[in-house]
Amino acid sequence: MIKNDLFLKALRGETVERPPVWMMRQAGRFLPDFMKLRDKYDFFTRCRTPELATEITLMPVRQIGVDAAILFSDILVIPQAMNIEVEMKPGLGPWLPNPIRTNKDVENVIVPDIEETLGYVLEAVKMTKQQLNGEVPLIGFAGSPWTILCYAVQGQGSKNFDIAKKFCFTNPIAAHTLLQKITDTTIAYLRAKVVAGVDAVQVFDSWGGMLSPVDYQEFSWKYIQQIIDALKDETPVIAFGKGCWFALDEMSKSGASALGVDWTCSPKNARYLSGGKITLQGNMDPARLYSSPADIKKMVHNMIDEFGKDRYIVNLGHGILPDIPVKNAQAFVDAVKGYSQK
Ligand code: CP3
Repeated sequence: MIKNDLFLKALRGETVERPPVWMMRQAGRFLPDFMKLRDKYDFFTRCRTPELATEITLMPVRQIGVDAAILFSDILVIPQAMNIEVEMKPGLGPWLPNPIRTNKDVENVIVPDIEETLGYVLEAVKMTKQQLNGEVPLIGFAGSPWTILCYAVQGQGSKNFDIAKKFCFTNPIAAHTLLQKITDTTIAYLRAKVVAGVDAVQVFDSWGGMLSPVDYQEFSWKYIQQIIDALKDETPVIAFGKGCWFALDEMSKSGASALGVDWTCSPKNARYLSGGKITLQGNMDPARLYSSPADIKKMVHNMIDEFGKDRYIVNLGHGILPDIPVKNAQAFVDAVKGYSQK
């Protein structure tokens, strides 16, 4: 039983006294206690040690009182499990020494056994659930197949993922083979996380907005829809496509329980485009957490008024930035808790 189930109620579209609040990337970025652990253990050690992953996951719940936990891990553990080497370089971010560029590279990518390759994530889920003791729900996540392809082919972060796009547009057959392998792995992975205990899952399509609406359908949405179809009867699914407001109509018909929205789309327009019924999550500009706590409070209250308090999950429009002062993140959460309808 979950004591604070506001987040699950919002996912089911039930009426709530106030909307739930959490922040994307809340578990591994801005808290001083996280930075201490970051200085002691390298990134994948933190991911692979269930005790550390659990400790980091609980920090924002205990320290700023968010209504949901998100497991500390990374979207790039999937390509790692698929036989694609991924390193995390301090100051640079993801670095893949042997990016996927040819048909042969795609052939060498495997659809792995999840227990064998990602058992450490499942252990972290179980340990976190135990320590949460039903306080708040736990969110599991994965990257969208397109967003994973972006890193697998580009080999690192990028402003436009030009090499990844070139690969898709010059060798679509190989691209689709790779996307399907990532999709199959992701479905098995998210299923295993649900069995291990997560209460909902979120698919991060961080680079979906790099594609035109037509290409989005072909190279991204089609695969996210497969993931939703496979999971929706087992757990609520949240689909977050950064820069993907143009797809909200189609997304709203997908069987997802909620859709993430970024700050380039107004709450009213997001409601309009998504048909007015589905739960929405977002969408404050993460950089707005640099504003004063008093301004943050006003912006949060406006945002809830515009989205409406029901079928709404308060969040940022993308991940929290690493140098946000803790008191500003606290103001964001407290503003939601202090919300009362006019
Ligand atoms: O709340 C959380 O932060 C939970 C854990 C989490 C991480 N990554 C930990 C992490 C989650 C949910 C992610 C998702 C993720 N990872 C996404 C999708 C969301 C988004 O922000 O768009 C993407 C695109 C990645 C890939 C990735 N991992 C990048 C681009 C980087 C480098 C830059 C950075 O800090 O985000 C990472 C590394 C990473 N993942 C770190 C953390 C805490 C920082 C490295 C470190 O701590 O040593």
